[in-house]
Amino acid sequence: MLRLAVLGCGAIGMQLIRALAEGRVQGEVVCVHDLSRQRAEQAARISGAEVADSLEELLHSDAQVVVECASIAAAKSMLLPALELNKQVVLLSTGALADAELLRRVESRHGSKVHIPSGAIGALDALRAAREGELRSVLLRTTKPPRALEGSPYVRQKRLELGALRQRTKIFSGNALEAISAFPANINVAVAVSLAGLGTEKTQVEIHADPAARRNIHELFAEGDFGRLYFRTENLPSRENPRTSQLAVLSALALLRRLSSVLQLG
Ligand SMILES: NC(=O)c1ccc[n+]([C@@H]2O[C@H](COP(=O)([O-])OP(=O)(O)OC[C@H]3O[C@@H](n4cnc5c(N)ncnc54)[C@H](O)[C@@H]3O)[C@@H](O)[C@H]2O)c1
Repeated sequence: MLRLAVLGCGAIGMQLIRALAEGRVQGEVVCVHDLSRQRAEQAARISGAEVADSLEELLHSDAQVVVECASIAAAKSMLLPALELNKQVVLLSTGALADAELLRRVESRHGSKVHIPSGAIGALDALRAAREGELRSVLLRTTKPPRALEGSPYVRQKRLELGALRQRTKIFSGNALEAISAFPANINVAVAVSLAGLGTEKTQVEIHADPAARRNIHELFAEGDFGRLYFRTENLPSRENPRTSQLAVLSALALLRRLSSVLQLG
């Protein structure tokens, strides 16, 4: 059975830990770490794991796989040390890989594995295939309820009054690199789409705030010599964190299942 260490025991981490404890997916959580000691202890009670007092202690546990579901900053400080210790990594804060130098260093570590779940989106398999031919354009259009976008650096800098919106409004347009620094907690999917397709500079992103939206909607448009692709997900937010779609949690579970299965689909 795979031995897992979980970094970040929030909405995603706790749901993964519960699913593993209930045997819905195979794997044993041996170590957990969270900036909040209380959350880590709650996770440890459910899983029977050790609580690590620091990232370093977590990385030196006997886990084979480190599951990061904490933050972009945590992912950035964890990735290379984890790979140096020959751990596999499951990375939820995909936005960390918008850092071109970090991506280069990760990719140069032949033999290492960083697994990236599809997160709150789909069709990454089709994009990856399309890229083998000529992929000309990729646009991700994300629509969220204003409260899911509140507090992001872009909204604060531009002093956007999202609560005052009465109709669906485009509040951001730019490439994926700009999108992830503007909305680090909202648009990890833009980096996953970039990694599958055209990279962060050529992937276009639009973010819309819609007071009538009850779901986080991601629409993916791509065009190339394969033809055209349109994929739309209407995600329900997870109960614990309105910024996180439930599908992202499920995609991490699907990835953990895949790690120990014979068939590798997609
Ligand atoms: N790939 C995707 O599609 C996708 C979808 C949703 C969320 N995410 C990302 O996954 C991550 C987790 O999401 P969530 O909804 O569980 O968030 P959350 O805020 O509910 O939980 C994050 C937990 O990590 C802890 N944490 C934060 N920084 C830490 C650090 N440096 N060291 C240790 N613990 C730390 C927090 O205390 C918190 O308990 C976030 O970065 C989020 O942006 C990715």
